[in-house]
Amino acid sequence: MSKPLFQRPRGTYDIVPPDYRSWRYVLGVFETNSLNAGYDRISTPAFENTALFTRSVGEASEIVSKEMYTFEDKSGNSLSLRPEGTAAVVRAYLENGLASRPKPVKLYKMEPMWRYERPQAGRYRQFYQAGVEVFGSAEPLIDAQVISLAARFYRQLGIEYSLQINCLGNAAARRKYRAKLVDYLQAHTTKLPELVQAQLKSNPLRILDSKDPAMESIIAGAPQVIDYLDKASAKHFSAVLELLDNFGIAYELNPRLVRGLDYYTGPLFEFWGSHQGMQNAIGGGGRYDELVEELGGRPTPAFGFDLGVERILAELAKSKSAMPQAHPTPIYLVSIGEDAKAQAFVLEQELLDGGIASICELPARNLADQLARASKLKSPYSLIIGKKELLDQTVILKDMTSGTQEMVPRAKIASELSRRLAQ
Ligand code: HAM
Repeated sequence: MSKPLFQRPRGTYDIVPPDYRSWRYVLGVFETNSLNAGYDRISTPAFENTALFTRSVGEASEIVSKEMYTFEDKSGNSLSLRPEGTAAVVRAYLENGLASRPKPVKLYKMEPMWRYERPQAGRYRQFYQAGVEVFGSAEPLIDAQVISLAARFYRQLGIEYSLQINCLGNAAARRKYRAKLVDYLQAHTTKLPELVQAQLKSNPLRILDSKDPAMESIIAGAPQVIDYLDKASAKHFSAVLELLDNFGIAYELNPRLVRGLDYYTGPLFEFWGSHQGMQNAIGGGGRYDELVEELGGRPTPAFGFDLGVERILAELAKSKSAMPQAHPTPIYLVSIGEDAKAQAFVLEQELLDGGIASICELPARNLADQLARASKLKSPYSLIIGKKELLDQTVILKDMTSGTQEMVPRAKIASELSRRLAQ
């Protein structure tokens, strides 16, 4: 047996038929919900100037320091494949003058991302995110509406989740908290694992996220960011929680949740699925009121989230909830004899022109074989053309569920099918 010369790069996957049907369904539910809630789609290039990400996601963050696919182009520019979408959307928001539109500006996106992570179940080097960003409103209502949009999406898909939420304060409050946390952790220096020692210098807040069992009790006793919030952030956060209560969205306050991106300034959250083990975050986001200004715009409050499509599909596969297959079932055209076959191919094109999914195949098959094939394709109807039908300018319309057949004038078949399929 011959062996293929190439394999896909580690941490990537192919979507082969029929798997994209589930993708279409999941992305469709996301898109419908976004459109219903007044969002418009934005799309940005797969790669950006590297500095955009270093500046926004944070030089010391793992995403930037370890996981970016960075390369020089032939002109010597440093470019990086997009490791996350928010910074790119902010760049596009500023560059395309969206900042002058009536606020809030509500955008949604569905794009692949790239991170050089250690691949494992639910963790890929190329993965797909769907999410929203809202610009120009500091109102707690926006936070609650966006979180509710995400929750509605999971709910509609029948995915069980737990919503984890925390809040970071303004820059001064974050600095004060960071200093307190470093003091506390330094007091435990002898017990800290090597990785944590390094993070202590570069990104101490991330230590709270550590999954290392040796850190469990140290973290449990650590100061909590919520106790260091400035007044405005504390007020904002309780307003968001009250709105979530009003919307009937359950949440868990999680003082350890800090997330891996440096741009957050207020409430932040993650949705955790029930099946994913260590990679259980099926979505996350938060408020980032300083990023637009940091990237050269006017001070503009902002809030958003992204969810991981592969992880959602994995949840769905494990939850065994039946997934509607958003795929058209075609009308199958059956023909007997060469002349009839030629006519069937013409009819197929007419039906496709009219937006009716139809299939007419080449291989010579007898009537029974062709009808068996129609059943296999789950065709709701098959159309049969033989010598007699050719002469009479008719078509036999066979209802594949009931088995009933009737003669329909050839000129009326497309409209008759449209009428029946619309019922
Ligand atoms: P993030 O938490 O880094 O946030 O990613 C969002 C989601 O993408 C995660 O919850 C997870 O489901 C999925 N994800 C992340 N890395 C991988 C991976 N290697 N393989 C598969 N799935 C993955 C952001 O990216 C922010 N842009 C969210 C945001 C939007 N904040 C404000 N606006």
